[in-house]
Amino acid sequence: MFRVRAVSMAAAVACAVGASSAAVGGTAWAAAPCPTAGAHPWCDTTKSPAERAALLTAALTEDEALAMLAGASANGHTGAIAPVPRLGIPSAYVTDGPVGVRQGPATALPTPIAEAATFDPAAARLHGSTIGEESRRKGNDGILAPTVNIVRHPRAGRTFEGFGEDPYLAGRTAVGWIEGAQSRGVFASVKHYAANNQEGSDPTGLLSSAALPIGVGTVGSRYVQNSVVSERALREIYLPAFEASVRDARVGSVMCAYNRVNGPYACASRHLLTDVLGGWGFDGLLMSDWILATHANDLVAQLRAGLDLEMPSPLSYTPLLVKLALASGSVKRADIDVRVARIFQTLLRFGFFEREPYALTGSPIDADAGDAAAQRIAEGSAVLLENRGLLPLTDATKSIAVIGPNAETFITGGGSGSVVPTRRVSLAAGVATRAGSGVRTAVDDGSDVARAVALARSSDVVIVAVGDYQTEGADKACLTLECPPSREGQDALVEAVAAAQPRTVVVLQTGGPVLLPWRDRVGALLQSWYPGQAGGTAIARVLFGDVDPGGRLPVTFPRSEADLPTAGSRGQYPGEPDQDVIYSEGVLVGYRWWDAKGIQPAYPFGFGRSYTTWRYRGLRVSPIAGGARVSVEVTNTGKRTGSDVAQLYVGVPGDDVVRRLEGFRKLTLAPGKSRRVAFRIGERAVSTWAGDGWRVPPGCVTLAVGRSSRDLPLNTVVAAGGRGACAAAKVTLGVRPCASRRSVSITLPAAVRRGMRSVAVTVGGKRVRTLRGARRSVVVSLAGRPRGTVRVTLTVRRAGGKARTVTRTYRTCTPRRSAA
Ligand code: BGC
Repeated sequence: MFRVRAVSMAAAVACAVGASSAAVGGTAWAAAPCPTAGAHPWCDTTKSPAERAALLTAALTEDEALAMLAGASANGHTGAIAPVPRLGIPSAYVTDGPVGVRQGPATALPTPIAEAATFDPAAARLHGSTIGEESRRKGNDGILAPTVNIVRHPRAGRTFEGFGEDPYLAGRTAVGWIEGAQSRGVFASVKHYAANNQEGSDPTGLLSSAALPIGVGTVGSRYVQNSVVSERALREIYLPAFEASVRDARVGSVMCAYNRVNGPYACASRHLLTDVLGGWGFDGLLMSDWILATHANDLVAQLRAGLDLEMPSPLSYTPLLVKLALASGSVKRADIDVRVARIFQTLLRFGFFEREPYALTGSPIDADAGDAAAQRIAEGSAVLLENRGLLPLTDATKSIAVIGPNAETFITGGGSGSVVPTRRVSLAAGVATRAGSGVRTAVDDGSDVARAVALARSSDVVIVAVGDYQTEGADKACLTLECPPSREGQDALVEAVAAAQPRTVVVLQTGGPVLLPWRDRVGALLQSWYPGQAGGTAIARVLFGDVDPGGRLPVTFPRSEADLPTAGSRGQYPGEPDQDVIYSEGVLVGYRWWDAKGIQPAYPFGFGRSYTTWRYRGLRVSPIAGGARVSVEVTNTGKRTGSDVAQLYVGVPGDDVVRRLEGFRKLTLAPGKSRRVAFRIGERAVSTWAGDGWRVPPGCVTLAVGRSSRDLPLNTVVAAGGRGACAAAKVTLGVRPCASRRSVSITLPAAVRRGMRSVAVTVGGKRVRTLRGARRSVVVSLAGRPRGTVRVTLTVRRAGGKARTVTRTYRTCTPRRSAA
């Protein structure tokens, strides 16, 4: 967990002289807000963060409380939570982002889509802990990452920044990342909640060329577009990675998105912020995205829905507007205190009050450790798409030409996911170093095709380095490598070089899928994503076979744009002129679409070649409490040590989704070695979202195991929904009946009970009873509720006719994803 450092007041003040720290009222400050447990009532560490936060909030003046609602001066960071100088509480700082710390030179890691391509939560943890550590060393308390928005359309400008198209993979990757980051003493802020799946179409490519993270004026711009999406698609596709971040990784913060979702802006959506997040038990800090995610006329809706902190500065939560709302009675001080307490509660949970501010002393990061992490993750993320006997390169190679626009450039995505690297190794440099002095290496940027062809002819092996550019603020204009601002002529360069030299390897550096018309005519094709600052070293090691290409595709590569789920439908993408973007493909996103429609992709989800060969056999399934244990024997049948990703897909009876990923395991095996790999699936893995809750459709569940979504040699059926539900099944899943709480007791605060005459109980929008007289608490039955969430409202009538309400949201038996 986080490090809590106890310091004496004197030592802390002495510290302040040398270190540039947080500032309170313009003075350098290096003392813990709670130097001792007895310093203030809220410093009592025997109390819970929630109790301490309530005590602290109660001690604020109205002006102090209002100031907490919006970001303060960031002092070189990306954002800041306001200080409370009178109480010795300094600003808390946050920084971007998902690729590395965006605050001076920092380790530029492989971008998150590459991290997802590792299919390895340990690699995600390393990615997160590297960024968490560097952000803390740069004086931050929180980190604005990870991005977990699902790739709905591969032209989306932030495809490189997320974890691909599958909710399960995105969720497991996010959990690893958040655990890694938060283990370094900073809170993560998972973003952008929710259904923020495009930046806005930019047919000219001008916005992305200018790298302007604005997107205003584009069709379907993130600032105004309304994602019209079914509750089922939200629950099954777009929300699970957020849910896993909250429920499994206990993320400290959630960032709500710019766009609207089914009408209201995400940051004012009561459904998203109260019902859904509350239903998952989220008790952290909810902050807005930066400028224009909040709106003055949503002030009351945002406060009531649950937006704690407007970033980066007051726009709707300005003291004047909030005071007017208080004066008009549309907002009460209690509405504000709830929000402020959530901010403090999160800071308290992460030890902010017991330590001096993290120091910002230049760039004291461990660049070597960061570089090693970047290299390791890049090696594990490279996906070998084609290999016609060319790779790995052998010692017989005496001359190598590295050709193309990316031969010597460092390439990564733009916007808040961009990072200034501490160092960089280009592909050409990495190859030259790995090849050694006995091998002649030549470099050409490929701008003159005839020259490149001549060089290719005179070399034993050619590596062609091509790629695209993606950025926040604008979607790509098309899916080919020719799209502006990528350099035109890349396809022609590959065609010409590959025609002249059959020993041509294409190394792709793209933020996501692109069209590859020449893929059958090259010797080998390696997808390396935006591989980070150590990319050249990592790719060279993969090309020479020092490591097996470890990556598998976290996103489908289409053969044509016409095959996309949104093809030919402007309403689906980029959206209608009124800015509605209709998610009418429902849950058929990514490979779910290709499978349901029987379309052959260029490369399927989960795919990636190895330098060795693999055998899968011996599928076994046994029921366990809460679900099933599925295992398979994996053998390396080749002559080299290699790594593979065993994947488990589940097909639910009567579903329009043919199969969905519900388990994966990466393993490395020496030649001839075998290992039995086990997965556990729980009730959630065989559920679909039905109306207002999760349901297990009775019948035959298909379990399929293999090496990609389209290579599943082993499969079987098991019965779900009780014995006899599936005649062909030998095994019945040990799914538990829903075990929700039968009743809850809600305590009424003293302030609410004053003059109490009666209390009316409303459950899920229906008035169930009214109790006369005064009482301290009310017991409410939740028995028989469907799975999902339910809101309980107590309306207290008081002498003089004034009513006060107390609202609570409860989870009613959300099924478990993995069995116990
Ligand atoms: C992005 C966020 C980012 C924020 C601060 C916004 O434009 O959408 O992801 O954290 O800027 O840089």
